[in-house]
Amino acid sequence: MKKVITYGTFDLLHQGHVNLLKRAKELGDYLIVGVTSDSFDKGRGKLNVRNNVIERIEAVRQTGYADEIIIEDYLGQKIDDIQRYDVDVFAIGSDWEGKFDYLNEFCQVVYLPRTEGISSTMLREESSGVVKIGVVGTGRIARRFVPETYVVSGIKVSAVYNPEKGQSEDFAREFNLQSYSAGFSDFLNEVDAVYIASPHLTHYEYAKQALYAGKHVLCEIPFMLSASQAKELYEYAEDNNLVLLEASKTAFCPSFNHLVTLVKSGIIGEVVDVQASLSKMVESPTRELDATQAGGAMNEHAPLTLMAVIKILGIDYTKVSFRSKVKDGADIYTKVVLDYPHATSSVTLGIGVKTEGNLIISGTKGYVYVPAPWWLTSFFEVRYEDQTKNKKYFYSYDGEGLRYEIQEFTSMIVNNRRGSYKLSKKESLAIAEIIEKYNNRESYIEI
Ligand code: CTP
Repeated sequence: MKKVITYGTFDLLHQGHVNLLKRAKELGDYLIVGVTSDSFDKGRGKLNVRNNVIERIEAVRQTGYADEIIIEDYLGQKIDDIQRYDVDVFAIGSDWEGKFDYLNEFCQVVYLPRTEGISSTMLREESSGVVKIGVVGTGRIARRFVPETYVVSGIKVSAVYNPEKGQSEDFAREFNLQSYSAGFSDFLNEVDAVYIASPHLTHYEYAKQALYAGKHVLCEIPFMLSASQAKELYEYAEDNNLVLLEASKTAFCPSFNHLVTLVKSGIIGEVVDVQASLSKMVESPTRELDATQAGGAMNEHAPLTLMAVIKILGIDYTKVSFRSKVKDGADIYTKVVLDYPHATSSVTLGIGVKTEGNLIISGTKGYVYVPAPWWLTSFFEVRYEDQTKNKKYFYSYDGEGLRYEIQEFTSMIVNNRRGSYKLSKKESLAIAEIIEKYNNRESYIEI
């Protein structure tokens, strides 16, 4: 008996899937279909799947072509399955051409022509409409953002803005966008939402203009450099039923969220101390070292690290103080100490001083250790005095990690949800307030 195996998500089962399964079956006598589990898809960054695994299995079963259906749950499983089920042929659509040649060692690999003009992605977009988002700014982070939107359904980058038209034109060409602009109001007319990834000092103005034009706003960090500006914009957004979200990417990562829920559920007892550090060395001349452009370690790195402290210890701190080492007006190193009624915390930030970029949360029963770079949380360990009780947690951190904030932003718009528990307005405001205190040099010592 000739055994054939094929794999897929098979979301919103369509004619392309049916054709593929039919042709795969014709390659042998017995067809095994591997359907991805929900967690496997999430883990590989495919966040947009509509049907759950039970529904997808049922849809594949109803085609009548599968003799056996299995669940694909981990990377590398294909090799195990091929050997376990004694498979003769591995078949997959031609969009994967070449990608599975490594399986030739175990069985014959066949790429079947893909059915043109249909895909699950297309069906998902048709059913819920697509949020048209425009990117403000054309720098490094904007370049990372666009490809990350490809894996989130319901959102599409459709325009870019840079006051220098040549820059937006190049960006539009690079990412195949229909529209580019050097005029902000023309740009706003093209979109439903904006992602602000422009220089720090421009965030407030762009966010305000976008909100006033009725657009939802996802704004890069540092979100706002003053709490009153942040408050004003959040209030405006709320009054006008618009989404305003701080793009603090780690806050939206499943692994970081899991860490927070584990700590909150008491696995390390009462939390007494949080230490977070983030440093990235930069070479002068650069915007990050330019005080006139709101550069400096604090403005660059405080948003993510303070977010971690606030997610664990909350917003009701009793005292904050700062120590900085300054060069040419910009802090190349800053330490922030935040005290709470029953806990303390410190964050150390560097752009001209290198620190160990880890996160350590200490409690009365144990501690959580997240090695550098903790903000791209892919691994952490819960440690105890009795080391046999230690537990390691591993995650895959897909792409640039921006897909999770994009998904949350899209979901908030589509589902008419105006707040996110992953980073609430109050938490975001508390971060802006601390950054403002720093910029006002409150409780500040230069070292
Ligand atoms: N497939 C196909 N023709 C299509 C769509 C999919 O032959 N028009 C094949 C794929 O090549 C794969 C299988 O069907 O072998 C399952 O693909 P899957 O990724 O589940 O479907 P897509 O529609 O491609 O899903 P998405 O848009 O989410 O990538």
